Amino acid sequence: MNFLIQPTFNRNFKQIIAKQKPKILFQKLSNLTSEKIKIIFKLPDGSKKTVEGKTKETVLDVAKRSDIPLEGACEGNLACSTCHCYLKNEHFDLFKEPSDREYDLLDLAFAVKQTSRLACQLVLQKKHDGIEIEIPKTQRNMAVDGYISKH
Ligand code: FES
Repeated sequence: MNFLIQPTFNRNFKQIIAKQKPKILFQKLSNLTSEKIKIIFKLPDGSKKTVEGKTKETVLDVAKRSDIPLEGACEGNLACSTCHCYLKNEHFDLFKEPSDREYDLLDLAFAVKQTSRLACQLVLQKKHDGIEIEIPKTQRNMAVDGYISKH
């Protein structure tokens, strides 16, 4: 039985690895040229947590590393809205405009505001040093057991 499954599994695994290699290589190269910046997360209970981020990574990456409650179920592949967050008005234009796909996914999020964004689409630059990201009080989560994915 295993013998029959193996070729298909290997082919699928090779396809997955082939897709991941450029992404992993890009992340390693980015680490060599990234700069440290500070990000302030406003948590659902109103408290604030200042954490260290790096340029060229996303707000979701920083949140995951810093135990900020953002699920990010699709791990940044624009297939969910579990990384919904709010920007401050004055910070909204500091990021690239949302894509049509991001707007579509934001329609699925709870309590959307004018400054809503998906954290996985917010790529940090030096100009974002000190920005505040608010985590909504209600989030759309995919995990039923409270699991928060880490990548
Ligand atoms: S993690 Fe799924 S859209 Fe951001």
